[in-house]
Order: sequence, then structure tokens, then C-alpha cells
Amino acid sequence: MKFFIDTANLDQIREANDLGILDGVTTNPSLMAKEGIKGQESILKHYVDICNIVEGDVSAEVIATDFEGIVREGEALAALHPQIVVKVPMIKDGVKAIKYFSNKGIKTNCTLVFSPGQAILAAKAGATYVSPFLGRLDDISTDSLTLIHQIVNIYSIHGFETQVLAASIRHAMHIVACAEAGADVVTCPLEPILSLLKHPLTDIGLEKFLADAKKFM
Ligand code: G3P
Repeated sequence: MKFFIDTANLDQIREANDLGILDGVTTNPSLMAKEGIKGQESILKHYVDICNIVEGDVSAEVIATDFEGIVREGEALAALHPQIVVKVPMIKDGVKAIKYFSNKGIKTNCTLVFSPGQAILAAKAGATYVSPFLGRLDDISTDSLTLIHQIVNIYSIHGFETQVLAASIRHAMHIVACAEAGADVVTCPLEPILSLLKHPLTDIGLEKFLADAKKFM
């Protein structure tokens, strides 16, 4: 399973990358706004800066919602760097654009996916990644993990090559459950990644080992 970090914060991307476990980055307009990045030129430069930190795929989201606009924006994003994946919302013109990009060999990430039917459409259109959102489904008291299991199962039965990229990850248990469900990728903020390190018995055990080691020094 690949680990992507879901942020536009360069320091956090560097920190996750330095751990040696990072396979890529996902961003969205909200995450870009959170970093205070404004203006087309700054936004495009920021994507290139991210690509220069990590080795894997970097999702950059289009703002347009009409086919021509999505294609125009997506082609400009894809031309920025070979690591760029064009992130396209799950809407009618988005599906059309994903098919267009797929035919041109441009990688895509179909975002804002909340149902198995949407995931089928994304795969049929040839999306490289499909992004079902866990946290936002949990927020409305809907079992998000069932969705991950359904998509993984459907893609497996029908041999779809689209990778399941579990998004809107809020905590370590989401990551573990997605791994068990067979998600190809999880994308999450830095904190849930770092929280995987934590276990009280590790801390207690290390303290004891270090105390005992001192006896031989
Ligand atoms: O990649 C999508 C993700 O950023 C959404 O996360 O926490 O805003 O639901 P969240």
C-alpha cells in the first residue's frame, strides 16, 4: 500500500519524505488556500516545488467544472512536471475529461467519490486513481469502510486498473482499516501518519531497555 501525504505544506511534505515512507502527495484547493498560496503563477510554482521534494505522484486539482475548462487546466497542470496527476471532480464533465486525459496518457485522480457507482464510472473512464472520502462519510454517520471494501471488490472482480486512493483520512485506525480492505493508497495529513508510530508499550519497553543498558555502561 502506498502512502501519500494530503497537504500543500512544504515542511510537512519534507518531514514525511525524510521518514522514507512517502510515495506521493495529494492537494486540493482548500489545502492550497490553507497555505495562503494565491495567484495562478504562485499556485503552479508551488506544485513544481512539491514535485521537487518527492519522487512519486503529485495530485493537482482543477477548478473548472466544464469539459473545455477542465481539459485546458488539466493539460497546463500536466505540462508542469511529469509527476503531476490531474485531480478532477466526480461530475459529468469531469468523467468526460478523465476519459479524454486517459486517451492522451495523462494521469488522473477522480476526487469527491462517495459511492460505488461513482467509482465504477471513474474506472470506466480510465482514471489512474479514484478517491473515496472516508472522514466526510463518517461525518454524516455513514460507514465509510464499507465503501472501500465495495470498490476494492468491484475493481478486483472486473479487473479495473484504477487504484483505490483512500482520502479524507482522519486517524490511524482509518489507515489500518484501509490497509486491511486492500486500498492501493492512503492519503492523509502528517499527524495520522506519525500517530502510527505510537504505542504506550513501545515507550515503556524502550524506557526499560535504556535503563537496563545503563547498567552495562
Ligand atoms: O484528499 C481529500 C481530503 O483532503 C479531504 O479531507 O479531512 O477535508 O475531509 P477532509
